[in-house]
Amino acid sequence: MTDGRLALDLKILVGTQTGVAQLVAQEVELRLDGEGFRVTTILMDEADAGVFAEGDLFLVCTSTYGQGDVPDGARPFYEALGSKRPDLSRVRYGLIGLGDRTYAETFCFGGKKFDRLLTELGAVRIGEPMFNDASSELPEEKAAGWIEGWIAICRQELAEKTSV
Ligand SMILES: Cc1cc2nc3c(=O)[nH]c(=O)nc-3n(C[C@H](O)[C@H](O)[C@H](O)COP(=O)(O)O)c2cc1C
Repeated sequence: MTDGRLALDLKILVGTQTGVAQLVAQEVELRLDGEGFRVTTILMDEADAGVFAEGDLFLVCTSTYGQGDVPDGARPFYEALGSKRPDLSRVRYGLIGLGDRTYAETFCFGGKKFDRLLTELGAVRIGEPMFNDASSELPEEKAAGWIEGWIAICRQELAEKTSV
């Protein structure tokens, strides 16, 4: 970076059933291009609990399926975190939850479950989560706006943390 801003490594963890969360992650990655972030996108289907040892800053982007469950492919990852219970106190994360308000009782529970579990394991969320209602909003469009605010909060919080 030549403008004095911090360059940040970001890992996006994607939990998806039919690919929408992956499209949202792609949109986020596009928006981060040129912002000084080094972004890696990882499908939860291919991740294990050790993934959190590979970085400090994460963006969890997951949908909800079944009756308020995480997507099928993300379940082994979610369950491994719950049973291995790694210490995530170094980890900072943002959260994008995809859902549909038609499922009023379980709206965005996939994202909410990850949020609760990561907090239990000591991770600290940066900013408010984005929750998307597929029945009234376009998730890529909403994420494109949300990520701008999240980047600003990240820079502020992480700069404060590293300043002497
Ligand atoms: C069978 C089925 C069950 C769903 N269950 C929920 C649910 O319990 N809560 C919710 O908020 N959204 C629910 N959704 C909506 C999806 O989470 C939403 O459409 C999301 O954008 C899909 O993203 P994906 O393609 O990344 O999996 C459900 C969708 C389907 C088709």
